[in-house]
Amino acid sequence: MIELANKVIGCCRELAQFTEEPGRTTRTFLSPPMRDVHRVLGDWMKRLGMRVWVDDAGNLRGLHGRAPKRLVIGSHLDTVPDAGAFDGVLGVVLGIALVEALGNRCPGLFIEVIGFSEEEGVRFGVPFIGSRAVAGTLASDIADVRVCDAIRAFGLNPEDLPAARLTAEAVAYLEFHIEQGPVLESLNLSLGIVDAIVGQSRLLLTFSGHANHAGTTPMNLRHDALAAAAEWILLVEKHAQETAGLVATTGLIHAEPNATNVIPGKVTVSLDVRHANDQARHVAVATLVRAAYETGLRRGMKVGDELRLDQPAVPMDSALGGMFDPGLHHMVSGAGHDAMILAPLLPAAMLFLRSPGGVSHHPDETVLAGDVAAALEAGVRFVQNLEAGLV
Ligand code: HGY
Ligand code: MN
Ligand code: MN
Repeated sequence: MIELANKVIGCCRELAQFTEEPGRTTRTFLSPPMRDVHRVLGDWMKRLGMRVWVDDAGNLRGLHGRAPKRLVIGSHLDTVPDAGAFDGVLGVVLGIALVEALGNRCPGLFIEVIGFSEEEGVRFGVPFIGSRAVAGTLASDIADVRVCDAIRAFGLNPEDLPAARLTAEAVAYLEFHIEQGPVLESLNLSLGIVDAIVGQSRLLLTFSGHANHAGTTPMNLRHDALAAAAEWILLVEKHAQETAGLVATTGLIHAEPNATNVIPGKVTVSLDVRHANDQARHVAVATLVRAAYETGLRRGMKVGDELRLDQPAVPMDSALGGMFDPGLHHMVSGAGHDAMILAPLLPAAMLFLRSPGGVSHHPDETVLAGDVAAALEAGVRFVQNLEAGLV
């Protein structure tokens, strides 16, 4: 299996070269380099005798055979800016490699591999477009017309999005993914079964002060939007440090007019809040938004907030997880995944692979060939157990 594992790693590193930004891996929703990814993975699937197509949400789909019982294996093909080579992509490539490893060993269960077009939400701030189209939960009148324009520009038809929905034969969803954190490495383990995915809230906050001359405006007469945002960002960090199980991140900031000699008049800051307990997450979001308004009031400026995502925590299906080796470590995912979108629709399971250095969303993200081989072996046993359980 180690040979196939090395083929998987080689393929992920090849796909990482398909990028919008020379010198680093950035591949967002339906950007031109996504066509190269579809070509390379589509060719591999066709060589395995799979039926390959791209649905109207831009998801790459590969079907191995045709059967009343189908296992869907998927993950996402888009990346964050300056990404590593394995977040998302590994789950799709492992799905294809698992079809190759299985051969015709499980005739009663056919596999559909899906490479979702958008999970990160980088291009338009709208995450999970691909998996929500497959789950049938993507609003038909997509609020953001830019998404529909991007679909058309890719040569697809947003009016045909409903055809992307999963069919009734799908009985289970499996996602392989790098852990993206330090837990498995700290326990010296290759693999982990995900019991639940934490809930996440994503918001944009705006601080609207007054732009003015950096040289002539006395400090006591300023309404500096960036200084207000900075004060609030430190409040966010302190609150998360003091709240058990909470993580909060202000990862995106945009100052206007963004010039060295102008006091920033308007600042937009993102807020990403996650917790395994939805009520705790909602309380934290309310506390942090209130703190933003209080900061603005103190500094004589307007504040606005826009909720972009309120994704509940999602348990994985314990019976399906039981199809893996019972001795594997169980854990919670702090990262969001497409599995949380499919889980309300059909039993879903996730298998994590160790992240050396606990690094992800970074070019140093990597995997170990031995862990990829272990994941393939675990996947073969999973499919065999699942097929046996279906008879
Ligand atoms: O942000 C996340 O949790 C995932 O990487 N999209
Ligand atoms: Mn990611
Ligand atoms: Mn991911």
